[in-house]
Amino acid sequence: MSMENFKQKYGEWALVVGASTGLGAAWAEECAKRGSNVVICARRLEKLQEVSASLRERYGIQTKEFVVDISHEDAAQTIVDNIEGLDIGVCVYNAAIEHVGFFIKVAEERHKEQLVGNAQVPMELCWHLCRDMARKHRGLILLCSSMAGTVGCGNNAVYGGVKSFELILAKGLWYEMRKYGVDVAGVTVGAIATPEFARVQEEQAKAAAERGEKYKPAKATTPADAAAYVMERAGKGPHLFTSRGDATLDKLMHILPLKTAVTMMGGAMDKNFSQGYDLLDDEFTEIARQRGKGAR
Ligand SMILES: NC(=O)c1ccc[n+]([C@@H]2O[C@H](COP(=O)([O-])OP(=O)(O)OC[C@H]3O[C@@H](n4cnc5c(N)ncnc54)[C@H](OP(=O)(O)O)[C@@H]3O)[C@@H](O)[C@H]2O)c1
Repeated sequence: MSMENFKQKYGEWALVVGASTGLGAAWAEECAKRGSNVVICARRLEKLQEVSASLRERYGIQTKEFVVDISHEDAAQTIVDNIEGLDIGVCVYNAAIEHVGFFIKVAEERHKEQLVGNAQVPMELCWHLCRDMARKHRGLILLCSSMAGTVGCGNNAVYGGVKSFELILAKGLWYEMRKYGVDVAGVTVGAIATPEFARVQEEQAKAAAERGEKYKPAKATTPADAAAYVMERAGKGPHLFTSRGDATLDKLMHILPLKTAVTMMGGAMDKNFSQGYDLLDDEFTEIARQRGKGAR
């Protein structure tokens, strides 16, 4: 989507959920660059205010920010209340909740948070926004998915499941909503150098050092490049990627025999995420030790 046509095609305001840092802030900047006013939300108000101030100063747009926690069941309603009266033409649902670890070693409550924040809340928000956008015959909704949602991912089974839900939801809505002039797409986000990504890399490097292994940091796209790559392609189909490399990897995952693909995903996570489980030293630790097959 060209810079000039963006605001004209979609409307005055862009909403980015989860825009206090990293990729979220980059989505907001891409919209501001195209002349949209931006309304952003996340948990840290101060960070949101910094992002807003910087966008106002550099692009001369209007901004609004508010606090929301997407792990709360009423989060979609909080967002809807806070955008009342704004002509929302674009929504990027970027925020996510991820609790990595073997399914049986992560607390049930953490799994539920992932369902709420990555499935229930985006679905409810889409319901509201799609109806509003259908009335206006215009709009753009992007739901952020992940490589973890491509084929199934051990150590990240629930997160992968809900990220797949976001992608499949977006693809279905792409078909329905284009009849009303509204663009919807799921975005498979690859490795992006966000603060969260940096934290995880640090954790992995530490785990590798503890195993006495060399650690090779993963290559990652910058948030700015990823957001620009997607926004240039907005409106061009139901499934977008954050780089050409991510699109190729996705293709490869679907060409490989499923067993191989799922084993590759789970194996990479096995190696990298040996720390950080909620339920360490429970009965399964001994069972896993006896089986000796890499279970935990
Ligand atoms: N980075 C990667 O390599 C990567 C890979 C695959 C997929 N993705 C997907 O890309 C998107 C962004 O990824 P990211 O997390 O790395 O980067 P990010 O955009 O740097 O940060 C996530 C944003 O969401 C907000 N957020 C987190 N938890 C929240 C909560 N409970 N309620 C409200 N807001 C919340 C954070 O702000 P506060 O902390 O202030 O709330 C932050 O603004 C996600 O959908 C993720 O699944 C990323």
